[in-house]
Amino acid sequence: MTVAAEVRIFQDPEELAREAAEFCIWLAGQSIAGTGRFRVALSGGSTPRTLYAMLASPPLATQVDWAHVEFYFGDERCVSPDHPESNYRTANAALFQPLHISPENVFRMAGDAPDPNEAARGYEALLRRQFGVPAPGWPCFDLVLLGLGDDAHTASLFPGTKALEESARLVVPNQASRGVRERITFTAPLINAAKVILLLVCGADKASAVHAVLEGAKPETKRYPAQLIRPSQGRLIWFLDRAAASGLTVAKQQVVSHEE
Ligand code: 6PG
Repeated sequence: MTVAAEVRIFQDPEELAREAAEFCIWLAGQSIAGTGRFRVALSGGSTPRTLYAMLASPPLATQVDWAHVEFYFGDERCVSPDHPESNYRTANAALFQPLHISPENVFRMAGDAPDPNEAARGYEALLRRQFGVPAPGWPCFDLVLLGLGDDAHTASLFPGTKALEESARLVVPNQASRGVRERITFTAPLINAAKVILLLVCGADKASAVHAVLEGAKPETKRYPAQLIRPSQGRLIWFLDRAAASGLTVAKQQVVSHEE
C-alpha cells in the first residue's frame, strides 16, 4: 500500500527542525493572509522541541503575527499542566512563554480533569465553538503537527485501541501502551479534515514504523495506526531524517532525495 504522501528526507534532526520551522512560518503567513488566522494543533513528545525552540527564536520569531495564531493540542497525557509529561507544559515553556502568546490563544486539553471522557467531550465542544462547526461537521485545522512512535502510533492513537475505530467524535479518551497510560486524543477523522498534516519523525528507532506505514504491503491500521492518517482534501507531508528513513526502499529514498 503506497500512501499518497509527500516525503522529504533531511540529513539530521537539526536540519529537519529548521526546515519544518520555516515551513510552519510560511504556512502561518499564508493562512493569516487568507483568513486572518492560523489554527495549529501541536504534537506531543520530544521531537517537536527543537522546532518550537526555532520558532521562538530569531529570525523566525518575528516573522509571524502571533496574535493571529491559535494553538490547540492533538493529544495530551492525563496529568497536571505542570507535570514533566504534559504536552502543554512542553509547549508552554518552549513556545508560549518565549513568544508571549496570549492565554486566550492557547487551548489546553484538560489532562488534569478527573474524567478524561468528560474532558474529551469538553474539548470537542470547544473546537465546535471556536471553528463554528456544529455536529456532524469536522473542524478544519490549518495545520496538524504529528509525531510517530516506534510502534507506529500517532497522536495518542495506539495500536489495538478503541480510539482507532472512532468515526463520529472529534476527541476521545484512550489508553497508551507505555508512559502515562491515560490520554486524550484527536480522532483520525478530525486529523484527516486538516488542510495540512505534517509528521515529523527522527531516529533509527522509528525506521521500521516509517516503512510499515509508508510502504506496508497492505493496510493494517490496528497494528500501524498512523496508516489511518490520509487527509480527505488536504496535504500529508512527512519530514524524516535519514535515520528514520533508513527502512524505506532505496527507490523511495532516491525519488524523495531528487525532489528535495
Ligand atoms: C505524545 C505524542 C506522540 C508522539 C510520539 C513520538 O503525546 O506522546 O503526541 O504521538 O508524537 O510518541 O514521540 P517522540 O517525538 O518523543 O519520539
